[in-house]
Amino acid sequence: MSLSEELLALFGKNVIRDAQGIDARMHFFGSVPADESLSQQLIETPVLRPKIVALVSINGGVGRSTLATALSSGLQRHGESVVALDLDPQNALHHHFGVSSTLPGIGRTSLEHGAWGPLQQVGFAGCQVITFGDIDIQQQENLERWLKHEPSWLARRLSSLGLSERDTVIIDTPAGNNVYFHQALSVADVVLVIVQADAACLGTLDHLDTLLAPYLEGERPPVVHVVVNQVDERNAFSLDMVEAFKQHLGKAPLEVHRDVAINEALAFAADPLDNVVKRLASDDINELCLLLKAPKKNA
Ligand SMILES: Nc1ncnc2c1ncn2[C@@H]1O[C@H](COP(=O)(O)OP(=O)(O)OP(=O)(O)O)[C@@H](O)[C@H]1O
Ligand SMILES: [Mg+2]
Repeated sequence: MSLSEELLALFGKNVIRDAQGIDARMHFFGSVPADESLSQQLIETPVLRPKIVALVSINGGVGRSTLATALSSGLQRHGESVVALDLDPQNALHHHFGVSSTLPGIGRTSLEHGAWGPLQQVGFAGCQVITFGDIDIQQQENLERWLKHEPSWLARRLSSLGLSERDTVIIDTPAGNNVYFHQALSVADVVLVIVQADAACLGTLDHLDTLLAPYLEGERPPVVHVVVNQVDERNAFSLDMVEAFKQHLGKAPLEVHRDVAINEALAFAADPLDNVVKRLASDDINELCLLLKAPKKNA
């Protein structure tokens, strides 16, 4: 048995008797199908009907997962139909939503060529959540190699969910420049660049501009907003940093205030919007939801 056959066997696939699916699965071992029509089919990216919002950042720990959760709950409360998607192998979004971590997620399911539809779990306010799920290092390497070869992977996967114009997909991504970031960017209608009010985040804006540039030159460029999270009104430095972001961007960034109720929500896997009602952060998140509710630019 070859190495690739042995690895496929780990996923319970008998590749010797399952010749039909082998080309597709061989993608994550770095080889591409020989059939040109299939290659062509793989690079054609489907046009997606739902609005896709990607939360990205270079720095870790700035609040992408927290805001993905709050915005999913908020938009659902606004009458939208939301699917929150964890595209981060850290697999942390299930903590935020308090959904099961034992059910399979997109990582392993994708490697096994399973459908994403059944992975949906009910999150806050009735939104749907799709977790990344647990995968080991080898599986993660295989998946990332596959994603690098197939830039339209996420578009195809989202297309298979059969969502409509009435749906919004909120994508949580890992920090930094990685395959998940680029997959999310390739489908995004709106990109929320999440930063904190500090010099480390301010210093990443030029790098982000470079990473975003190819997508902004594309056929359907996303709308990009910078969101300064965890702004502390009582801290002069925090406010000075917001001003520095404003100077750099040439316009005021969006802001979400620091609120201990948001930390508590994560600790108890509670809906952050239940905890922040009538507080500053709740107005901020509401404002962001109204912005995201606007019809998508390229509809
Ligand atoms: N507006 C806020 N007010 C108070 N605490 C916040 C706020 N936003 C995020 N936090 C807290 O900051 C911490 C990090 O948030 P989160 O896990 O969402 O960041 P992340 O960017 O997704 O991190 P990672 O890079 O690990 O994926 C959490 O403890 C969260 O509760
Ligand atoms: Mg996160």
